[in-house]
Amino acid sequence: MIAICASLPSSLRRSTFTASLPYRFLVTLALIVPALIAPAKSQVKIRLAVDASKTGVKIDRNIFGQFAEHLGHGVYEGIWVGPDSNIPNTRGIRSDVVVALTAIKVPNVRWPGGCFADEYHWRNGIGPANKRVVTLNPNWGGVVEPNTFGTHEFMDFVDQIGAEAYISVNVGSGTPREAAEWLEYMTTAQPTTLEKERVANGHPAPYKVAYLGLGNESWDCGGNMTPDYYLDRMKIFTHFVRNFNPSQQDRHQMLKIAVGPAGDGPRWTEWTDTIMKAYQQHTWSWDINGLSMHSYTVGRGWPPSYKSVGFGETEYSEILKSTLDMEGLIDKHSAIMDKYDPDKKVALVVDEWGGWYAPLPGTNPGFLVQQNSLRDAILAALNLNIFARHADRVRGANIAQMINVLQAMILTDKERMVLTPTYYVYKMYVPFQDATLVPVTFDAGTYTHANISLPRLDAIAAKDTNGKLWLEITNLDPNQPVMIEASVSGIAAKVAEGQTLTAPKVDSVNSFDAPNTVIPKTITAKVQDGKLALHLEPKSVTVISVEQ
Ligand code: AHR
Repeated sequence: MIAICASLPSSLRRSTFTASLPYRFLVTLALIVPALIAPAKSQVKIRLAVDASKTGVKIDRNIFGQFAEHLGHGVYEGIWVGPDSNIPNTRGIRSDVVVALTAIKVPNVRWPGGCFADEYHWRNGIGPANKRVVTLNPNWGGVVEPNTFGTHEFMDFVDQIGAEAYISVNVGSGTPREAAEWLEYMTTAQPTTLEKERVANGHPAPYKVAYLGLGNESWDCGGNMTPDYYLDRMKIFTHFVRNFNPSQQDRHQMLKIAVGPAGDGPRWTEWTDTIMKAYQQHTWSWDINGLSMHSYTVGRGWPPSYKSVGFGETEYSEILKSTLDMEGLIDKHSAIMDKYDPDKKVALVVDEWGGWYAPLPGTNPGFLVQQNSLRDAILAALNLNIFARHADRVRGANIAQMINVLQAMILTDKERMVLTPTYYVYKMYVPFQDATLVPVTFDAGTYTHANISLPRLDAIAAKDTNGKLWLEITNLDPNQPVMIEASVSGIAAKVAEGQTLTAPKVDSVNSFDAPNTVIPKTITAKVQDGKLALHLEPKSVTVISVEQ
């Protein structure tokens, strides 16, 4: 009894209540007994084993790539405000966005689309700004395309944020000659007419194009082609559209990425099969280094109908279940690629992925405006972990899209900018860029909501380029915290700390007025005898480093 009383709250222990002793005894009992017989809210424990003595494949930093299409306010307002704007900018590119993107070490930016790419004519976007051709953007709201953001502005932007250029050429409505001339304009150092034009337009040094997309969704908005028709056309483009700068070829080959599948049905397996079978027999005169794959998380099907904010646990669990299909999709297309390319020379590049929800009420539906919640942070972590686990084949990925469109890193409204929960995941994952996978084993357990069952936990581990060990753990369960007991072999772990991202609700967002609702917080694990004890909040993404 003494022991029980000692465990009472001090307010009860020091009670000045003057009722009779038996009465006080009964009251005390009534307070204590339920607490004793009710099942305590069980602490979920999950054991994890990390073997730091073993290392696997490198996680290509390009899986953290971004995608910036001429769509809604993705480029105009999101990146480009023009040199005369009151919004602080460098040569027209907004400074706040550059600072934010530099911090997440964006490896590459895919541009100008998307569907826009197969209607884009590069000549419209060069030369004096006031002489640029004004066109339309029929795919995305039919709005006016001023072409003030063109090749030079894009190259300046990627340079300012320290990223590489991933250019998608127009295979659908353009010609091989148009695309080849664009590449000559950008890359040659020889005194050709196109080189002189680039110099006259203000850039004497040749630009570097690290990645070249050979069309976009050529089975749909990129030209409604059959796999065979696309293959023939792609071979012509890959032959003629070169990097025209031999010094760049030596040091850094331009990697060419063919259009690939966007699902797991027969239509899509046929597409992958057609391209990869041809690749197996390719000759010196054409080559590819990557096959693209697009996969959006939409939940219950097309058109996207889930709300991006103002939803509950059902929509949370349904979207996460749907996003985990990425794993099966990669497995399916990797297996076909393995058949024709067992040495895995051709990368699978998931160059469009992310959550795609209903447009925010009151916005132009052609602008694909949505909010970005804690659910998106968890979705991002799950997909990045899937890409990392398939690092032998998945060597590139571009989340759609970087600013103001779909699952964005950044939202802007005139001079205001807010960083989304997805942005913070990318920031926390920086140490995984070019890190080497380390095996981690665990029993994920199950989180169930209504008829949806999901793994409770996901995790990856890797050693960064300096040899430091990093661990990422996602707790999918929005209700239960998890106590992680991690045994680390291969190093004598002494300190483990990092950051964790969570928020009060599954649909918590960062808004312009409340930008810090979903931001990372410091987290420290207890370390004893090489074992870590780490308390994970429900619905959280956590990245820690483990040091000896
Ligand atoms: O990201 C939006 C669009 O989705 C892209 O333009 C297109 O490639 C895809 O269908």
